[in-house]
Amino acid sequence: MAQIKTIGILTSGGDAPGMNAAIRAVTRAAIYNGFKVKGIYRGYKGLITDEIVDFKTQNVSNIIQQGGTILKTARCKEFTTPEGRQIAYENMRKHEIDALVVIGGDGSLTGARIFAQEFDVPIVGLPGTIDNDLYGTDHTIGYDTALNTIMWCVDRIRDTATSHERLFFIEVMGRNAGFLAINGAIATGAEAAIIPEIATPEEQLDQLIQNGFRKSKNSSIVLVAESPRTGGAMALAERVKEKYPQYDTRVTILGHLQRGGSPTAQDRILASRLGAAAIDALIEGQRNVMIGDDDEKIVYVPFSKAIHKDKPVDPDLVETLRRLSI
Ligand code: F6P
Repeated sequence: MAQIKTIGILTSGGDAPGMNAAIRAVTRAAIYNGFKVKGIYRGYKGLITDEIVDFKTQNVSNIIQQGGTILKTARCKEFTTPEGRQIAYENMRKHEIDALVVIGGDGSLTGARIFAQEFDVPIVGLPGTIDNDLYGTDHTIGYDTALNTIMWCVDRIRDTATSHERLFFIEVMGRNAGFLAINGAIATGAEAAIIPEIATPEEQLDQLIQNGFRKSKNSSIVLVAESPRTGGAMALAERVKEKYPQYDTRVTILGHLQRGGSPTAQDRILASRLGAAAIDALIEGQRNVMIGDDDEKIVYVPFSKAIHKDKPVDPDLVETLRRLSI
């Protein structure tokens, strides 16, 4: 394997709070270990359109507390084609980039895996997504901040729900995973979470109405994970309106505000640890791995596992929510 002298870094896919802390950690740890660093703007798109600049320690000063990503991000169609990846590789060579650190979610790591296979480039990934849906890491960068944002919002909705004695369906992000919904529900004392991983929405709804709302509650909050499998908050609320017209139902879709904001301490620390570990991994000759945390320990997870294996929601969480929402 050729010696690594210069490391390129990019953020790709949906942004997540803590990506800047990760960029900072990768840049500083790389420079500390004697590597040169190149910042690649707009993810894989910037690799194709040649938006690549030298990164020094000053480039990453004062960013640990900022949401979003200073490198910008994009979802790049062209990189899914062999022609696009060929141009990306040529630009890498032009800038003498020997290895890449890719910060992003499953789509970004899928792209990294294909690219690494085609061109024999050492790539290390960092799990950057609010969805927490990557296998092999307990937490992804951005997840904790998004969860706290959800908590902040739901607490406020609770006030008005209680005042008006309403049933609220609140839709949260997560793509096909229910982590934000289930843990958001536990953190806010919600009556239920409708998540794609368990039962059908119909069963979950009936259970909610029978166990809680009908018996003792005059207001209820249900967190709904966005997913074709749950149908989303709007569709569920419509069904409830038809079946239980006596309830005054409302819907709130939290949307992209879940992706913004200054990262929590937990996300900053996670991003810093994983970012520094990405450089250790490259020094050790690792490639095609995502850096994860497993019980507070740094682990290397092959891309194939991180992307393709389903990360289960702990049934204990579901049970806890059920027992506490009586
Ligand atoms: O993967 C992060 C995420 O925020 C998902 O939760 C959501 O489904 C998706 O990205 C939204 O993507 P976009 O910002 O492209 O609409």
